[in-house]
Amino acid sequence: MKLWEKKGHSSLNDLVEKFNVGKDYIYDSKLAVYDVKGTIAHVKMLNKIGVLNDEDTIKVLSELEFLEKKFEKEPPALKIEDEDIHTYIENYLVSRLGDLGKKIHTGRSRNDQVLTALRLYEKDKLGKIIESIDNLLKELISLSKKLKESKVPLIGYTHSRQAMPMTASFWVESLIEAIEDSRNIIRNSCSVIDKNPLGSAAGYGFPLSLDRDYTRELLGFKGILVNSLYAQNTRGKYESLVVDSLSYLIGDIVRFVNDIIFFSSSEVGFLRLSSSITTGSSIMPHKKNPDVFEIIRAKSKIFFTYSLELKNITFSLTSGYSRDLQETKYLVMDALEEAHEIIDVFRVAIGGIEFDSEKVFKVMDKSIFSVDVAVEVMKKYGLSFRDAYRVVGEIIIELTNTSTDELLKKYESMPLEREIVEWFSKDTKELFYYFVSKRTQEGYPKL
Ligand code: ARG
Repeated sequence: MKLWEKKGHSSLNDLVEKFNVGKDYIYDSKLAVYDVKGTIAHVKMLNKIGVLNDEDTIKVLSELEFLEKKFEKEPPALKIEDEDIHTYIENYLVSRLGDLGKKIHTGRSRNDQVLTALRLYEKDKLGKIIESIDNLLKELISLSKKLKESKVPLIGYTHSRQAMPMTASFWVESLIEAIEDSRNIIRNSCSVIDKNPLGSAAGYGFPLSLDRDYTRELLGFKGILVNSLYAQNTRGKYESLVVDSLSYLIGDIVRFVNDIIFFSSSEVGFLRLSSSITTGSSIMPHKKNPDVFEIIRAKSKIFFTYSLELKNITFSLTSGYSRDLQETKYLVMDALEEAHEIIDVFRVAIGGIEFDSEKVFKVMDKSIFSVDVAVEVMKKYGLSFRDAYRVVGEIIIELTNTSTDELLKKYESMPLEREIVEWFSKDTKELFYYFVSKRTQEGYPKL
């Protein structure tokens, strides 16, 4: 039976019913445990303010506690006719307890019920996501340590062109710092949404003195959404905030994924991907493709649209609940599930990358040491950086079509120019390790 069914309201058209229910009968199944938790708190509060006596409260709670355990093990499979999880649970209680089951909706609307269940779900899911982020960070920290110990080289790019030397550990550390930052953004969003919406009813409170602080305490919320209308207006806004906060982390991951795809491409080859994370081709026997990274890349693009869609739906409405908001549930739940999956898959995929230092040195163009050489001669000859920059730049241009031997001869009696040519006649590896260790020893921004 629908909660709103009554005499005089002729039965709903089947097509309209199915359309209105939307995907609730699928998504609400995941909210079942949280809806029961919200109901337990509500029932305890009704007992505290004298709406339910002790005997009735014990009966209702034992049914609800049974449901909580049951749904924890196996979420219920809802049918379209069940409409939503709130109806499903109330109908169950009425079927078990008769008139007593009808009392529990006192002071409550499905509008604050769904908000409560959603916020509990979101807090739980964000907690699990943060655990996954911590595990990803552990993996990255141990990778960067290993890379530092074996001094794995890499090339730094700007505009997709070789720019300056960097190390593989420096590259990984850039992701570690990014993720730590994004984890803070997620934690902040989690703390903003940590407020009790229960008791706001349909958006305009209820003419009974509901103890909203008591349900806050029982449900473990940090604060209360005080104004009932605002409580309703947070639907969609808070969901967008949570998804937005996750999008920065997804952005960090996908930038790195793009690096991995580029660094592991046939022509570049700084990285190799192990068989456990690559996929073959059905026609080309030699292929080992980075599908997992490509799928993360595509999913991130879809991910970025979620918070936009949430804002589009939410901020096109007038104050108070509108059924449009039901659609926001699917967006936020999909986003949380997908973010979680991306983080875990990325952690596993990171474990399958191997570095090829020899390939890096083979591809490395010595001109990436231009800044380091310019600084060397700037200090030694007391030049401005601009003048040192110019001489080094001019010599690099000359080196593109003149041999070092010829240039050494040409600059025999010009010590500054000769010294620059000497720098570039050194071995690539020697230059790399010299300048990288110099940076480390002299306390400059490390590589
Ligand atoms: N399924 C609805 C949602 O997710 C529950 C609230 C229904 N409220 C209502 N007034 N029809 O928004």
